[in-house]
Amino acid sequence: MRILVIGSGGREHALLHAMHGHELTVAPGNAGMSGLATVRSVDVASPEAIVALAHDVEAELVVIGPEVPLVAGAADALIEAGIPVFGPTQAAAQLEGSKAFAKDVMAAAGVLTASASRVEAAEDIEAALDEFGPRYVVKDDGLAGGKGVVVTEDRAEAKAHAEAVIASGNPVLFESFLEGPEVSLFCLVDGETVVPLLPAQDHKRAYDNDEGPNTGGMGAYAPLPWLPEDGVETIVDTIARPVAAEMVRRGTPYQGLLYVGAAWGPEGPAVVEFNARFGDPETQAVLSLLETPLAGVLLAVAQGRLAQVEPLQWRDGFAAMVVLAAEDYPQAAKTGGAVTGEALGDPAKVLHAGTALEDGQLVASGGRVLGTVGRGATLKEAVAEAYRVIEGIELPGSFYRTDIARPAIEGAISL
Ligand code: GLY
Repeated sequence: MRILVIGSGGREHALLHAMHGHELTVAPGNAGMSGLATVRSVDVASPEAIVALAHDVEAELVVIGPEVPLVAGAADALIEAGIPVFGPTQAAAQLEGSKAFAKDVMAAAGVLTASASRVEAAEDIEAALDEFGPRYVVKDDGLAGGKGVVVTEDRAEAKAHAEAVIASGNPVLFESFLEGPEVSLFCLVDGETVVPLLPAQDHKRAYDNDEGPNTGGMGAYAPLPWLPEDGVETIVDTIARPVAAEMVRRGTPYQGLLYVGAAWGPEGPAVVEFNARFGDPETQAVLSLLETPLAGVLLAVAQGRLAQVEPLQWRDGFAAMVVLAAEDYPQAAKTGGAVTGEALGDPAKVLHAGTALEDGQLVASGGRVLGTVGRGATLKEAVAEAYRVIEGIELPGSFYRTDIARPAIEGAISL
Protein backbone atom coordinates (compact mmCIF):
# COMPACT_ATOMS: atom_id res chain seq x y z
CA MET A 1 0.00 0.00 0.00
CA ARG A 2 1.20 3.55 -0.73
CA ILE A 3 0.98 5.47 2.52
CA LEU A 4 1.66 9.15 3.17
CA VAL A 5 2.45 10.07 6.78
CA ILE A 6 2.18 13.73 7.74
CA GLY A 7 4.49 14.95 10.51
CA SER A 8 8.12 15.11 11.51
CA GLY A 9 8.58 13.85 15.06
CA GLY A 10 9.42 10.69 16.98
CA ARG A 11 5.76 9.71 16.84
CA GLU A 12 5.81 9.74 13.04
CA HIS A 13 9.11 7.84 12.99
CA ALA A 14 7.45 5.17 15.15
CA LEU A 15 4.39 5.11 12.86
CA LEU A 16 6.64 4.59 9.83
CA HIS A 17 8.58 1.84 11.59
CA ALA A 18 5.31 0.09 12.49
CA MET A 19 4.24 0.24 8.81
CA HIS A 20 7.56 -0.73 7.21
CA GLY A 21 7.20 -2.95 4.15
CA HIS A 22 4.68 -0.56 2.61
CA GLU A 23 5.58 2.16 0.13
CA LEU A 24 6.00 5.01 2.58
CA THR A 25 6.30 8.75 2.07
CA VAL A 26 6.62 11.18 4.96
CA ALA A 27 6.30 14.96 4.92
CA PRO A 28 7.95 17.05 6.19
CA GLY A 29 9.78 14.23 8.01
CA ASN A 30 13.26 14.43 9.49
CA ALA A 31 16.78 13.22 8.79
CA GLY A 32 16.29 9.91 10.58
CA MET A 33 13.39 8.75 8.43
CA SER A 34 15.02 8.38 5.03
CA GLY A 35 15.80 4.70 5.59
CA LEU A 36 12.09 3.94 5.92
CA ALA A 37 10.35 6.44 3.68
CA THR A 38 10.74 8.99 0.92
CA VAL A 39 10.97 12.35 2.68
CA ARG A 40 9.06 15.22 1.04
CA SER A 41 8.31 18.75 2.13
CA VAL A 42 4.82 20.07 2.85
CA ASP A 43 3.16 22.89 4.74
CA VAL A 44 1.38 20.87 7.44
CA ALA A 45 -1.03 23.73 8.09
CA SER A 46 -2.28 23.67 4.49
CA PRO A 47 -4.96 21.04 3.71
CA GLU A 48 -4.62 21.90 0.00
CA ALA A 49 -0.88 21.19 0.03
CA ILE A 50 -1.46 17.86 1.81
CA VAL A 51 -4.08 16.81 -0.75
CA ALA A 52 -1.76 17.83 -3.60
CA LEU A 53 1.06 15.75 -2.16
CA ALA A 54 -1.28 12.78 -1.55
CA HIS A 55 -2.29 12.94 -5.24
CA ASP A 56 1.34 13.28 -6.30
CA VAL A 57 2.44 10.12 -4.46
CA GLU A 58 -0.85 8.35 -5.32
CA ALA A 59 -1.46 7.68 -1.63
CA GLU A 60 -3.93 4.93 -0.81
CA LEU A 61 -3.91 6.03 2.84
CA VAL A 62 -2.87 9.25 4.55
CA VAL A 63 -1.98 9.08 8.24
CA ILE A 64 -1.94 12.44 9.95
CA GLY A 65 0.40 12.59 12.95
CA PRO A 66 0.16 16.06 14.51
CA GLU A 67 -2.83 18.13 15.58
CA VAL A 68 -2.17 21.24 13.48
CA PRO A 69 -3.27 19.74 10.11
CA LEU A 70 -6.26 18.05 11.75
CA VAL A 71 -7.50 21.28 13.30
CA ALA A 72 -6.86 23.02 9.96
CA GLY A 73 -9.18 20.53 8.20
CA ALA A 74 -6.70 18.27 6.36
CA ALA A 75 -8.86 15.17 6.92
CA ASP A 76 -11.93 16.94 5.50
CA ALA A 77 -9.98 17.95 2.39
CA LEU A 78 -8.66 14.41 1.88
CA ILE A 79 -12.14 12.89 2.32
CA GLU A 80 -13.46 15.43 -0.19
CA ALA A 81 -10.73 14.28 -2.60
CA GLY A 82 -11.71 10.62 -2.08
CA ILE A 83 -8.45 9.66 -0.34
CA PRO A 84 -8.71 7.43 2.77
CA VAL A 85 -7.38 9.31 5.79
CA PHE A 86 -6.60 8.25 9.34
CA GLY A 87 -7.42 11.26 11.49
CA PRO A 88 -10.58 13.11 12.52
CA THR A 89 -12.34 15.88 10.65
CA GLN A 90 -11.87 19.49 11.70
CA ALA A 91 -15.16 19.41 13.65
CA ALA A 92 -14.20 16.23 15.52
CA ALA A 93 -10.61 17.42 16.13
CA GLN A 94 -12.09 20.22 18.24
CA LEU A 95 -11.84 17.71 21.09
CA GLU A 96 -8.19 18.76 21.09
CA GLY A 97 -8.43 22.13 19.34
CA SER A 98 -10.71 23.69 21.95
CA LYS A 99 -10.59 22.64 25.57
CA ALA A 100 -13.91 24.44 26.13
CA PHE A 101 -15.50 22.31 23.37
CA ALA A 102 -14.09 19.15 24.97
CA LYS A 103 -15.62 20.17 28.32
CA ASP A 104 -18.99 20.66 26.64
CA VAL A 105 -18.84 17.20 25.04
CA MET A 106 -17.82 15.62 28.35
CA ALA A 107 -20.67 17.33 30.20
CA ALA A 108 -23.14 16.01 27.61
CA ALA A 109 -21.59 12.52 27.74
CA GLY A 110 -21.51 12.37 31.55
CA VAL A 111 -17.73 12.01 31.67
CA LEU A 112 -15.78 12.85 34.81
CA THR A 113 -13.35 15.76 34.42
CA ALA A 114 -12.03 18.79 36.29
CA SER A 115 -14.37 21.72 36.81
CA ALA A 116 -13.27 24.66 34.70
CA SER A 117 -13.84 28.28 33.92
CA ARG A 118 -12.98 30.00 30.64
CA VAL A 119 -11.60 33.52 30.90
CA GLU A 120 -11.23 35.87 27.94
CA ALA A 121 -10.31 39.17 29.61
CA ALA A 122 -7.25 39.92 31.71
CA GLU A 123 -9.36 41.68 34.37
CA ASP A 124 -11.16 38.39 35.16
CA ILE A 125 -7.95 36.47 35.95
CA GLU A 126 -7.75 37.33 39.68
CA ALA A 127 -11.30 36.10 40.34
CA ALA A 128 -10.56 32.82 38.57
CA LEU A 129 -7.37 32.38 40.62
CA ASP A 130 -9.41 32.94 43.81
CA GLU A 131 -11.90 30.30 42.68
CA PHE A 132 -9.50 27.56 41.52
CA GLY A 133 -6.22 27.57 43.39
CA PRO A 134 -3.90 26.50 44.73
CA ARG A 135 -2.83 24.23 43.06
CA TYR A 136 -3.42 26.31 39.92
CA VAL A 137 -4.07 24.59 36.59
CA VAL A 138 -3.96 27.17 33.79
CA LYS A 139 -4.42 26.09 30.17
CA ASP A 140 -4.22 27.79 26.82
CA ASP A 141 -7.61 27.06 25.18
CA GLY A 142 -5.99 26.72 21.77
CA LEU A 143 -3.20 24.50 20.46
CA ALA A 144 0.13 25.09 22.16
CA GLY A 145 2.25 22.10 21.18
CA GLY A 146 2.00 20.50 24.61
CA LYS A 147 3.38 23.59 26.32
CA GLY A 148 0.18 25.52 26.98
CA VAL A 149 -0.44 24.11 30.44
CA VAL A 150 1.00 25.41 33.69
CA VAL A 151 0.36 23.53 36.93
CA THR A 152 1.79 25.40 39.90
CA GLU A 153 1.38 26.33 43.55
CA ASP A 154 2.69 29.79 42.71
CA ARG A 155 -0.08 32.33 42.13
CA ALA A 156 2.24 34.81 40.39
CA GLU A 157 3.38 32.13 37.92
CA ALA A 158 -0.22 31.09 37.26
CA LYS A 159 -1.24 34.70 36.70
CA ALA A 160 1.69 35.40 34.37
CA HIS A 161 0.82 32.36 32.23
CA ALA A 162 -2.85 33.37 32.06
CA GLU A 163 -1.90 36.91 31.03
CA ALA A 164 0.47 35.59 28.37
CA VAL A 165 -2.23 33.32 26.89
CA ILE A 166 -4.76 36.16 26.74
CA ALA A 167 -2.14 38.48 25.24
CA SER A 168 -1.57 35.85 22.52
CA GLY A 169 -5.26 36.13 21.57
CA ASN A 170 -6.52 32.85 23.04
CA PRO A 171 -8.95 32.37 25.93
CA VAL A 172 -7.51 30.77 29.06
CA LEU A 173 -9.01 27.89 31.03
CA PHE A 174 -8.69 27.61 34.81
CA GLU A 175 -9.31 24.13 36.17
CA SER A 176 -9.50 22.32 39.46
CA PHE A 177 -6.47 20.05 40.02
CA LEU A 178 -7.11 16.35 39.44
CA GLU A 179 -5.44 14.03 41.93
CA GLY A 180 -3.95 10.69 41.00
CA PRO A 181 -1.46 9.11 38.59
CA GLU A 182 -1.92 9.89 34.93
CA VAL A 183 -2.75 7.39 32.21
CA SER A 184 -2.47 7.96 28.46
CA LEU A 185 -4.88 5.61 26.75
CA PHE A 186 -4.89 5.73 22.96
CA CYS A 187 -8.15 4.55 21.46
CA LEU A 188 -8.84 3.79 17.81
CA VAL A 189 -12.27 5.27 17.20
CA ASP A 190 -14.53 4.78 14.22
CA GLY A 191 -17.96 6.22 14.97
CA GLU A 192 -19.13 4.32 18.04
CA THR A 193 -16.51 1.56 17.75
CA VAL A 194 -13.63 1.97 20.20
CA VAL A 195 -10.51 -0.22 20.31
CA PRO A 196 -7.94 0.70 22.98
CA LEU A 197 -4.18 0.27 22.59
CA LEU A 198 -1.95 -0.53 25.58
CA PRO A 199 -2.07 2.05 28.39
CA ALA A 200 1.01 4.23 28.80
CA GLN A 201 2.37 6.98 31.00
CA ASP A 202 4.22 10.10 29.89
CA HIS A 203 6.71 12.17 31.90
CA LYS A 204 5.90 15.76 31.06
CA ARG A 205 8.29 17.75 33.26
CA ALA A 206 11.77 18.50 31.98
CA TYR A 207 13.79 17.18 34.93
CA ASP A 208 13.94 14.21 37.29
CA ASN A 209 11.39 13.92 40.11
CA ASP A 210 8.86 15.80 37.97
CA GLU A 211 10.68 19.08 38.42
CA GLY A 212 11.13 21.89 35.93
CA PRO A 213 8.91 23.22 33.18
CA ASN A 214 6.30 21.26 31.26
CA THR A 215 7.55 19.85 27.97
CA GLY A 216 6.10 17.94 25.05
CA GLY A 217 7.09 14.76 26.98
CA MET A 218 10.49 13.48 28.18
CA GLY A 219 9.85 9.75 28.26
CA ALA A 220 7.18 7.11 28.54
CA TYR A 221 6.52 3.48 29.29
CA ALA A 222 3.85 0.89 28.56
CA PRO A 223 1.88 -0.99 29.76
CA LEU A 224 1.23 0.22 33.33
CA PRO A 225 1.91 -2.43 35.99
CA TRP A 226 0.00 -0.44 38.61
CA LEU A 227 -3.25 -0.15 36.65
CA PRO A 228 -6.09 -2.42 37.84
CA GLU A 229 -6.79 -5.38 35.55
CA ASP A 230 -9.99 -3.77 34.32
CA GLY A 231 -8.42 -0.29 34.16
CA VAL A 232 -8.41 -0.01 30.37
CA GLU A 233 -11.98 -1.30 30.16
CA THR A 234 -13.06 1.25 32.78
CA ILE A 235 -11.53 4.13 30.81
CA VAL A 236 -13.13 2.90 27.60
CA ASP A 237 -16.54 2.38 29.24
CA THR A 238 -16.64 5.61 31.23
CA ILE A 239 -14.78 7.98 28.92
CA ALA A 240 -13.94 6.93 25.35
CA ARG A 241 -17.17 5.19 24.38
CA PRO A 242 -19.54 7.85 25.79
CA VAL A 243 -17.52 10.58 24.07
CA ALA A 244 -17.51 8.68 20.75
CA ALA A 245 -21.29 8.23 21.04
CA GLU A 246 -21.77 11.93 21.82
CA MET A 247 -19.74 12.90 18.74
CA VAL A 248 -21.97 10.65 16.61
CA ARG A 249 -25.06 12.19 18.21
CA ARG A 250 -23.79 15.67 17.28
CA GLY A 251 -23.39 14.63 13.65
CA THR A 252 -19.59 14.91 13.82
CA PRO A 253 -18.46 11.29 14.23
CA TYR A 254 -14.87 10.74 15.28
CA GLN A 255 -12.55 8.65 13.10
CA GLY A 256 -8.93 8.31 14.11
CA LEU A 257 -7.02 8.16 17.33
CA LEU A 258 -8.59 9.57 20.46
CA TYR A 259 -5.94 10.13 23.12
CA VAL A 260 -7.53 10.00 26.54
CA GLY A 261 -5.32 11.68 29.13
CA ALA A 262 -6.82 10.75 32.49
CA ALA A 263 -5.89 11.09 36.16
CA TRP A 264 -6.93 8.10 38.25
CA GLY A 265 -8.24 9.73 41.43
CA PRO A 266 -10.43 8.56 44.31
CA GLU A 267 -13.51 8.58 42.09
CA GLY A 268 -11.83 6.68 39.24
CA PRO A 269 -10.40 8.04 35.99
CA ALA A 270 -11.15 11.68 35.20
CA VAL A 271 -10.16 13.40 31.97
CA VAL A 272 -7.21 15.78 32.06
CA GLU A 273 -7.20 16.29 28.30
CA PHE A 274 -8.11 14.79 24.96
CA ASN A 275 -5.84 14.82 21.96
CA ALA A 276 -7.02 14.07 18.45
CA ARG A 277 -3.89 12.09 17.50
CA PHE A 278 -1.28 9.67 18.77
CA GLY A 279 0.68 11.06 21.72
CA ASP A 280 4.39 11.70 21.66
CA PRO A 281 6.45 10.05 23.22
CA GLU A 282 4.00 7.34 24.40
CA THR A 283 3.43 6.14 20.82
CA GLN A 284 7.07 5.16 20.48
CA ALA A 285 6.75 2.80 23.47
CA VAL A 286 3.25 1.51 22.69
CA LEU A 287 3.85 0.71 19.01
CA SER A 288 7.08 -1.14 19.79
CA LEU A 289 4.87 -3.75 21.49
CA LEU A 290 2.28 -4.03 18.72
CA GLU A 291 2.45 -7.28 16.77
CA THR A 292 -0.57 -6.73 14.50
CA PRO A 293 0.50 -4.91 11.31
CA LEU A 294 -0.51 -1.29 11.91
CA ALA A 295 -1.23 -0.14 8.35
CA GLY A 296 -4.22 -2.45 7.84
CA VAL A 297 -5.74 -1.33 11.13
CA LEU A 298 -5.39 2.38 10.30
CA LEU A 299 -6.86 1.79 6.83
CA ALA A 300 -9.82 -0.03 8.42
CA VAL A 301 -10.50 3.01 10.62
CA ALA A 302 -10.20 5.30 7.59
CA GLN A 303 -12.71 3.15 5.69
CA GLY A 304 -15.17 2.75 8.57
CA ARG A 305 -14.39 -0.95 9.11
CA LEU A 306 -12.83 -0.93 12.59
CA ALA A 307 -15.61 -3.13 13.99
CA GLN A 308 -14.49 -5.93 11.65
CA VAL A 309 -10.81 -5.86 12.65
CA GLU A 310 -9.49 -8.89 14.57
CA PRO A 311 -8.38 -8.19 18.18
CA LEU A 312 -4.98 -6.51 18.27
CA GLN A 313 -2.01 -8.74 19.16
CA TRP A 314 0.69 -7.46 21.53
CA ARG A 315 4.17 -8.67 22.43
CA ASP A 316 4.63 -9.78 26.02
CA GLY A 317 6.58 -7.54 28.35
CA PHE A 318 7.15 -3.82 28.56
CA ALA A 319 8.58 -0.95 26.56
CA ALA A 320 10.21 2.29 27.67
CA MET A 321 11.20 5.41 25.81
CA VAL A 322 13.69 8.08 26.88
CA VAL A 323 13.92 11.46 25.14
CA LEU A 324 17.23 13.18 24.45
CA ALA A 325 16.64 16.94 24.62
CA ALA A 326 18.84 19.75 23.34
CA GLU A 327 20.48 22.13 25.80
CA ASP A 328 18.02 24.60 27.34
CA TYR A 329 14.93 22.75 26.09
CA PRO A 330 12.11 23.72 26.47
CA GLN A 331 12.87 27.39 27.16
CA ALA A 332 15.25 28.10 24.27
CA ALA A 333 16.63 24.86 22.88
CA LYS A 334 20.08 25.19 21.31
CA THR A 335 20.07 23.54 17.91
CA GLY A 336 22.88 22.81 15.46
CA GLY A 337 25.02 20.51 17.63
CA ALA A 338 26.39 17.30 16.09
CA VAL A 339 24.57 14.10 17.04
CA THR A 340 26.76 11.02 16.98
CA GLY A 341 26.68 7.51 18.33
CA GLU A 342 25.47 3.96 18.09
CA ALA A 343 22.11 2.86 16.80
CA LEU A 344 21.20 6.22 15.22
CA GLY A 345 20.12 4.36 12.06
CA ASP A 346 18.12 1.64 13.82
CA PRO A 347 14.43 2.63 14.21
CA ALA A 348 13.83 -0.29 16.56
CA LYS A 349 16.09 1.52 19.03
CA VAL A 350 16.29 5.20 18.09
CA LEU A 351 13.41 7.32 16.86
CA HIS A 352 14.36 10.72 15.52
CA ALA A 353 12.40 13.89 16.23
CA GLY A 354 14.46 17.08 15.82
CA THR A 355 17.31 15.95 13.59
CA ALA A 356 18.60 17.27 10.27
CA LEU A 357 21.55 16.58 8.00
CA GLU A 358 24.03 19.41 7.49
CA ASP A 359 26.92 18.68 5.13
CA GLY A 360 26.44 14.98 5.79
CA GLN A 361 26.51 15.41 9.58
CA LEU A 362 23.45 14.62 11.72
CA VAL A 363 22.63 17.69 13.84
CA ALA A 364 19.98 18.67 16.35
CA SER A 365 17.26 20.76 14.72
CA GLY A 366 14.67 20.79 17.49
CA GLY A 367 14.25 20.69 21.25
CA ARG A 368 13.34 17.01 21.52
CA VAL A 369 16.09 15.57 19.35
CA LEU A 370 15.41 11.83 19.47
CA GLY A 371 14.26 9.09 21.77
CA THR A 372 15.55 5.63 22.53
CA VAL A 373 13.31 2.62 22.95
CA GLY A 374 13.92 -0.43 25.09
CA ARG A 375 11.86 -3.57 25.45
CA GLY A 376 12.11 -6.23 28.11
CA ALA A 377 10.31 -8.98 29.96
CA THR A 378 10.06 -6.61 32.92
CA LEU A 379 9.67 -2.85 33.04
CA LYS A 380 13.05 -2.61 34.74
CA GLU A 381 14.71 -4.45 31.83
CA ALA A 382 12.94 -2.30 29.25
CA VAL A 383 14.07 0.89 30.96
CA ALA A 384 17.65 -0.38 31.33
CA GLU A 385 17.77 -1.12 27.60
CA ALA A 386 16.47 2.37 26.66
CA TYR A 387 19.17 3.92 28.90
CA ARG A 388 21.85 1.62 27.49
CA VAL A 389 21.06 2.93 24.00
CA ILE A 390 20.87 6.61 24.99
CA GLU A 391 24.20 6.40 26.79
CA GLY A 392 25.77 5.55 23.42
CA ILE A 393 24.61 8.82 21.85
CA GLU A 394 26.46 12.14 22.05
CA LEU A 395 25.11 15.65 21.61
CA PRO A 396 27.00 18.42 23.41
CA GLY A 397 24.88 20.10 26.10
CA SER A 398 22.00 17.65 25.72
CA PHE A 399 20.20 16.04 28.64
CA TYR A 400 17.67 13.36 29.46
CA ARG A 401 15.70 12.35 32.51
CA THR A 402 17.23 9.50 34.45
CA ASP A 403 14.05 8.42 36.24
CA ILE A 404 11.70 7.29 33.47
CA ALA A 405 9.25 4.74 34.93
CA ARG A 406 11.13 4.69 38.24
CA PRO A 407 8.06 5.21 40.48
CA ALA A 408 6.31 2.34 38.67
CA ILE A 409 9.35 0.05 38.99
CA GLU A 410 9.66 0.88 42.69
CA GLY A 411 5.98 0.21 43.30
CA ALA A 412 5.49 3.81 44.39
CA ILE A 413 2.31 4.36 42.35
CA SER A 414 -0.92 3.32 43.96
CA LEU A 415 -4.54 4.15 43.29
N1 GLY B 1 2.44 13.08 25.41
C1 GLY B 1 1.75 14.30 25.32
C2 GLY B 1 1.21 14.62 24.01
O1 GLY B 1 1.40 13.92 23.05
O2 GLY B 1 0.51 15.62 23.90
